[in-house]
Amino acid sequence: MSTTALIVAAGKGERAGGGVPKQYRMLGGKPVLRWAVEALIRHPAVQSARVVIGTGQEEQATAALGGLDVGQLIEGGAERADSVRAGLAAIESDAVLVHDAARPFCPASVVDRLIASLEFYEGAAPVLPVGDTLARIDATLGKPVGRSGIVRVQTPQAFRLAALKAAYERWSGPSPTDETTVAAAAGMKVATVEGDPALEKLTRPGDFERAEQWLAGALRPSTGMGFDVHAFAGEGPVILGGVEVPHDRGLVGHSDADVVLHAITDALLGAAGLGDIGEHFPPSDARWEGAASSLFLTHAVDLLRERGAIIDHVDCTIIAEAPKVGPHREAIRAHIAGIAGLSIEQVSIKATTTEGLGFTGRREGIAAQAVASIRTGFLK
Ligand code: CTP
Ligand code: MG
Repeated sequence: MSTTALIVAAGKGERAGGGVPKQYRMLGGKPVLRWAVEALIRHPAVQSARVVIGTGQEEQATAALGGLDVGQLIEGGAERADSVRAGLAAIESDAVLVHDAARPFCPASVVDRLIASLEFYEGAAPVLPVGDTLARIDATLGKPVGRSGIVRVQTPQAFRLAALKAAYERWSGPSPTDETTVAAAAGMKVATVEGDPALEKLTRPGDFERAEQWLAGALRPSTGMGFDVHAFAGEGPVILGGVEVPHDRGLVGHSDADVVLHAITDALLGAAGLGDIGEHFPPSDARWEGAASSLFLTHAVDLLRERGAIIDHVDCTIIAEAPKVGPHREAIRAHIAGIAGLSIEQVSIKATTTEGLGFTGRREGIAAQAVASIRTGFLK
């Protein structure tokens, strides 16, 4: 059975406020939409993913989804049902998982249960019991609503694609808040599977704070260190953190001898336990001869993000008697932040001399040390 994840992200997020539609707001360093898509795309039972976005949201969506294979973005409509319809029309697979972009954390176990149910049912949805008393309100508290047999219904919801399409064709009511409403009206048998509190939808302003707190407990912080040295030879300039710094001597080495980017790349690889720069970019490989070191950093960042890592911070100390780093510090920070997709506050560059001692003191070369802080953790 082939399964497509269809993530609807064409809403305006009016209740959440915050200036930008909630699906593009950052959560633990990543846009909400990216969390939602990544959670489904990396599930082994999901072969492809497509995203429905609002008119005029192309730029935000492309930035949020960079590097993820989601094909062509699909344009949604005014109501959620219009967006789902547009999405269903664009996909071809046996099954579909329709998911709200506003539910960033989808545990793989929920998808396992949904997919398993499709063997026996045309649809399946994650549900949770209601813990609080339910009541109607008027001007004051009205009649309680019995809660036995009542559940809260979440997304993603799994359906056999043909059955859901047919149900939507017959649906003529107002835009529903999910697909089970449409499926039930068409007489489809929809299984319930256990939902998960992590799937709570971001709807109101306070929901973001709660989600941040939840993330803080779910992710594991780790740190990596990197160190690199290149010797001076020939004429300058030197390249530090991708920035040309005027100097009477240059640095020699495989690639462009950018000690700063090499140390940071190694620190990132180290934080994720992914080996070292020499392993990923062997000096013996002609492809990397004279290569811009920004390629190494980009590659390391991609590897980390593929593994669901959030890069919180990188800090680098450049050890050299000369050239002076101070005047170039901000340019270097900005350049590294640009390559790594970080904000400038997440990148720190410092410099020191060794008081004339050692090889850096004798002005034989430049060394750099870096530390990277990341958080990782897949939601089980
Ligand atoms: N959605 C959509 N197209 C719409 C409306 C909503 O794709 N026309 C998506 C939202 O982006 C969200 C999901 O449906 O991922 C659930 O909707 P909701 O929580 O209501 O989000 P918004 O409509 O964006 O928020 P609000 O109703 O507060 O404006
Ligand atoms: Mg809405």
